[in-house]
Amino acid sequence: MSFLSATLSRVKPSPTIAVTTKAQELRAAGHDVIGLGAGEPDFDTPENIRAAGIRAINEGKTRYTAVDGIPELKAAVCAKFARENGLDYTPAQVSVASGGKQILYNALMATLDPGDEVVIPAPYWVSYPDMVLLGGGTPVVVETTLENSFKLTPEQLEAAITPRTKWLIFNSPSNPTGAGYARDELKALTDVLMRHPHVWVMTDDMYEHLVFDGFEFCTPAQVEPGLYDRTLTCNGVSKAYAMTGWRIGYAAGPVELIAAMRKIQSQSTSNPCSISQWAAVEALNGPQDFIETNKAVFQRRRDLVVGMMNATPGITCPTPEGAFYVYPSIAGLIGKTTPQGRAIDSDEAFATALLEEAKVAVVFGAAFGLSPHFRISYATSDEALKEACTRIQTFCASLR
Ligand SMILES: Cc1ncc(COP(=O)(O)O)c(C=O)c1O
Repeated sequence: MSFLSATLSRVKPSPTIAVTTKAQELRAAGHDVIGLGAGEPDFDTPENIRAAGIRAINEGKTRYTAVDGIPELKAAVCAKFARENGLDYTPAQVSVASGGKQILYNALMATLDPGDEVVIPAPYWVSYPDMVLLGGGTPVVVETTLENSFKLTPEQLEAAITPRTKWLIFNSPSNPTGAGYARDELKALTDVLMRHPHVWVMTDDMYEHLVFDGFEFCTPAQVEPGLYDRTLTCNGVSKAYAMTGWRIGYAAGPVELIAAMRKIQSQSTSNPCSISQWAAVEALNGPQDFIETNKAVFQRRRDLVVGMMNATPGITCPTPEGAFYVYPSIAGLIGKTTPQGRAIDSDEAFATALLEEAKVAVVFGAAFGLSPHFRISYATSDEALKEACTRIQTFCASLR
């Protein structure tokens, strides 16, 4: 009999963290590896936000706080939702946790029973299906297509819903594709949900601020106010404010759900770091202009990577609306062999060979539930990106 739980055996460790670790190991062994695996901005946290954290330490704001957030941060979250999304929430409808990840985890743990289904469009952020499994639920994965820009269609959503469906997990702009749903595309999905009142929406808006070419970000409860009472709108400071290490995520939704999430947090981690909460107050309430500056940098890098990938024989790379990822197809390379004799029979084999033979770390598509693809995170310097894309081009050209 295994000492470890049966639930755990159904769950796999995060493949994106595994790629980053492998790249670090190769680098430590003296190899010149370029990492395009990590999902975090390469910018420093803005100075005013860092100063707010330091101030919190010096002012002794270093004790336990309310389990799901200090009143000042909840007020800042309410103001953000009103200002940026046209959504009215009271502090009792807001939850703050140690990262967006904990928010999603709490919500799933608080609501899933065995047999409950959660609709997850693929490719998906790696943690969604495993969190559903940890909660005892059943992920219902719906594969999107490159031809449809990796977006779920209303017909696909309709077909995936059963009497056991509890949630749709919605993520726009998406990790790993960068695909963002325009207002009419989202409205077509919310129209389907309006016909199924038992289905709730967990919307992961983590990349809200990283959108390009004037793309208008929308969130489900804003596009369809009729869904307000069954939507959990999740967000966080990690990506937009370059605060991945501070670990602050937040959400707003119905009071009963927020209270249930608080109960779980009270019996697991308790409050998120007090210092980080004060820094997040400054992030949400302070100047927002650096977001535009960072966005321009990301857009330039996106164009660089998309251009270089589409100039690579065997690779097709759509131009995404947001985030800092692209998700090229390697359909044209499957069946080839590397100079060192590795068979490219899957996207995992491609990513392994690329790391071993060209020293570029990317994450293979199977990790996100849609093959044959790979994910490039372009949250790294222009120089590193150019060099990495050149290596990918040389590597692909060397395949026979
Ligand atoms: C789509 C998506 N949701 C949630 C998260 C988690 O964010 P956090 O670092 O705040 O836990 C990430 C981080 O990679 C993400 O890409």
